[in-house]
Amino acid sequence: MYSPNTTLKPTPIILGIESSCDETAAAVICGRKLLSSEIISSATEQAKYGGVVPEIASRAHTEAVDEVVRRALKTANVSAKQLDAVAVTYGAGLLGALLVGLSFAKGLACSLNIPLIGVNHIRGHLAAAYLVDENLKPPFVTLLASGGHTAVLYTESYLSFRDLGGTCDDAAGEAFDKVARILGLDYPGGANVERLARGGENVVKLPSALVKNSSRLQFSYSGLKTAVINAVHNAEQRGESINYADVACSFQHAAVDPLVKKTVECAKNLGVDAVTAGGGVIANGYLRDSLTKACQKAGLRCVLPEKRFCTDNAAMIAAEGLTQYRAGNFAPLSINACARIPLV
Ligand code: KG4
Ligand code: ZN
Repeated sequence: MYSPNTTLKPTPIILGIESSCDETAAAVICGRKLLSSEIISSATEQAKYGGVVPEIASRAHTEAVDEVVRRALKTANVSAKQLDAVAVTYGAGLLGALLVGLSFAKGLACSLNIPLIGVNHIRGHLAAAYLVDENLKPPFVTLLASGGHTAVLYTESYLSFRDLGGTCDDAAGEAFDKVARILGLDYPGGANVERLARGGENVVKLPSALVKNSSRLQFSYSGLKTAVINAVHNAEQRGESINYADVACSFQHAAVDPLVKKTVECAKNLGVDAVTAGGGVIANGYLRDSLTKACQKAGLRCVLPEKRFCTDNAAMIAAEGLTQYRAGNFAPLSINACARIPLV
């Protein structure tokens, strides 16, 4: 375990473990170099129930965690004894699910006598960008869009963030999932809405997710979701047919366009030269293309994690683990799981 006598290495080998929802994941990094990233998902089983059932998730993590860590070490060609630290998600997420990864990580760190690092899952999403570009350094502006959060942040340093504005109700990912349900699409909804939207056009009139006339930057996804419900129901009641692909495409525009526009505007106003992004919604192809183009037009560098590192994974947990390792922020063995943690 960590003690004041522990020598911190400039390029540590860190194992990341993630189990906050339905993905059991492990990854190994050496400095900012990713050596492996493995995932065992219970999403297919969860899909039968239309969403994540916490008890099924916890049981699935219990069965998978040892295997996924073994795979990550094997792929990285690293032995457990070579590890310098274990970084693990301690929140936010499903308590029972978090406890599986956390307890495993505690046991491993304890048996190897190496530091344990508790990682805030959302900070993990933000740190995924560091794995894209070894030279990426704050300050920059970050778009965070996941199942539970939607915000534009000013990343001042590796450890400090300023919230520039965000959603006042549902998160963007939550809205994608709810719209998927309205359109009869299976869980996980976001990717299925994107797939359906590819065959549609932006012709259904929907309100933008941007809250106008607000003194600060604000998004609202609850009203947009209700507008989608109304558009579908009204058409059905009038006996008219409504093209679900058009609804998906129009929703995607209303949900994504203001995020892209405002992120770029914030970056320009703050005078930074780069924009990064993180969270499951950043896996959306339309968002990625729009943000990339808007950044190009504004002369900004756009640093997007690969799609597989936008949705839940352990590479991002290891990446944030590296930041905390360098800052000397280690966790005691008494660290507990937290269902909710403040964003930044
Ligand atoms: O970051 P994440 O994997 O988990 C949380 O920490 O919340 O985000 C999950 C969210 C879900 O709401 C899912 O619908 C959304 O990300 N998502 C997408 C796409 N892939 C995942 N939303 C839009 N388009 C996608 N391709
Ligand atoms: Zn996540």
